[in-house]
Amino acid sequence: MTDRYAVIGQPVAHSQSPRIQAMFAKQFGAEISYETIEVAPEALAESLVRLHADGYQGLNVTLPHKLEALKLCEAVSERAQIAGAVNVVKRTETGWSGDNVDGEGFIRDLAQLKLDVAGKKVLVLGAGGATRGILKPLLDQKPAELTVSNRNPWKPEELAEQFKAHGKIRPCTHIALKGDRFDLIINATSVGHTGAFLKLPGQLLADGGACYDLSYGKAFAPFAVWAKSQGAKRVADGIGMLVEQAALSHQFWRGVLPKTAPVIEALRSS
Ligand code: ATR
Repeated sequence: MTDRYAVIGQPVAHSQSPRIQAMFAKQFGAEISYETIEVAPEALAESLVRLHADGYQGLNVTLPHKLEALKLCEAVSERAQIAGAVNVVKRTETGWSGDNVDGEGFIRDLAQLKLDVAGKKVLVLGAGGATRGILKPLLDQKPAELTVSNRNPWKPEELAEQFKAHGKIRPCTHIALKGDRFDLIINATSVGHTGAFLKLPGQLLADGGACYDLSYGKAFAPFAVWAKSQGAKRVADGIGMLVEQAALSHQFWRGVLPKTAPVIEALRSS
């Protein structure tokens, strides 16, 4: 029987994951089934039970379920605990085992793009779930300084406190960034979905600095425009991270790590 996988979320119909996982499986001459399954927040617990009973081998978990799904897993990895969220679960005999490969996917993409974090001044814009998932992996890369800025000033303060065992985070508001310069600016807000970008002080990017957005497609466009206006030579979207986390999910389920470069290229050219 063909192994069954799916991504659960709401909305989820637009997901690229079925296409990505089909390309990965092909690399190994395997055939898998991978569906998108719309799950409302109130139906998450029963859906996880049903999908287990239906024989699914593994699931990707996307918005808005990443936090809640963690609580419904039988076991979760340490990095998922630290991120406070799971983005992938694997079938066990009696339930689901959860992991979070978003952060590692992000770091692998930065490495592929040759965007250094070690010794650099790094700014993360936003302090929601997306930020939480990348903080520990970023701190592990030993930046010279890691700043998290946000509209709501309390959230970065909370994150700085929660992550202090893993390294130092400077919390601040977007306005308080005035006069500062960063080598790498990472957009982890969801503001791009509105078609606009944040109002930020000018000249935040150091000479030769780079910009990276965790989102892609239409949501990436406003940040790309802003980054260019700041003189960024390099501006990356989150497609690489999407494919890297998908590859790590594939490995978590099937024990083999697919090649990502040809898949990233295929997504970009379509
Ligand atoms: P995610 O899980 O995608 O990170 P989230 O937890 O809702 O989603 O966080 C969204 C982030 O985008 C937050 O940092 C949010 O700022 P606030 O904490 O101040 O709400 C930020 N964000 C979203 N829309 C924004 C807007 N219009 N202006 C400024 N920041 C915005």
